[in-house]
Amino acid sequence: MRKLGAFYFSGTGNTRYVTEKLCGLLKNNFEVTVKDICAPDAADELKSSETVILAFPVYGSAPPVPMREFVFANAQSLKGKQAIIVATQYMFSGDGAASLGRAVEKLGAKVTHAEHFRMPNNISDCKILAIKNGSELSGMLEKTERRIERFARKICCGSPLKRGFNPISRAVGFFSQRALFRKGEKEKRILLKVKKAACVGCGACVRACPVKNIELSNGIAVPLGKCVLCYRCVNLCPQKAIKLFGKSLPEKQYKEVDSTEKF
Ligand SMILES: Cc1cc2nc3c(=O)[nH]c(=O)nc-3n(C[C@H](O)[C@H](O)[C@H](O)COP(=O)(O)O)c2cc1C
Ligand code: SF4
Ligand code: SF4
Repeated sequence: MRKLGAFYFSGTGNTRYVTEKLCGLLKNNFEVTVKDICAPDAADELKSSETVILAFPVYGSAPPVPMREFVFANAQSLKGKQAIIVATQYMFSGDGAASLGRAVEKLGAKVTHAEHFRMPNNISDCKILAIKNGSELSGMLEKTERRIERFARKICCGSPLKRGFNPISRAVGFFSQRALFRKGEKEKRILLKVKKAACVGCGACVRACPVKNIELSNGIAVPLGKCVLCYRCVNLCPQKAIKLFGKSLPEKQYKEVDSTEKF
């Protein structure tokens, strides 16, 4: 069986969920490994994979910083491989999957499949974006699961699907989101704030941050200015003491969905 490595970045579990569901459906056709790109052995695993899945949440019609860095740091290992792009998003990105897919193709990989999957919103500190958890999500997750099943069938029977790889989607993604998001990306990375009076110094955010952007100083969490905007700490802080894009602290946090497929 062909060796397929699935590599994901997931701030709040949505992309891990989709990746695990998809890989569960592919495991009769491929020898499947699933890796968080932040795992120390992810690069070695990529080297030995014949087909790769690159999965990420769309941020402003673009991949998050860690996924971009992972792809460019492992350009040599991607060369000549078949690549499948999986992008999760709350609403819409135009060409979120293709934005990484094009870069991967420039590095010499062949993108055979790319798809967008709707998943819940995880931006919990902006009042205009509703947060839903548990049974509130069942309708959305059922639709997404059907889309994952269709995608898995296309991969298994070799029928191509490259969502967003066309000039219209590219223009829509760029002009509606990516241009603006990328322009202020550096400034966004220093936006994260901890309400000192609410922080109890439990260290949960320090342990969870995928890029070690938070440390404890005198028993209070302090961000270090290299946030990759994943919203993990905002959604897990037991004191709801962390905010990122919003004006106020989150009232309701987003809780990860559980895929039951484990790798
Ligand atoms: C910084 C940021 C930017 C986002 N931008 C978009 C976007 O442009 N379009 C969209 O539909 N969803 C957007 N979302 C929602 C996420 O893409 C979506 O919730 C995703 O499934 C989260 O995946 P994760 O749990 O694996 O991190 C954004 C979320 C964050 C945190
Ligand atoms: S998770 Fe919240 S309470 Fe715990 S250290 Fe971080 S900011 Fe403070
Ligand atoms: S500081 Fe929080 S939002 Fe930023 S990268 Fe770390 S866990 Fe994600």
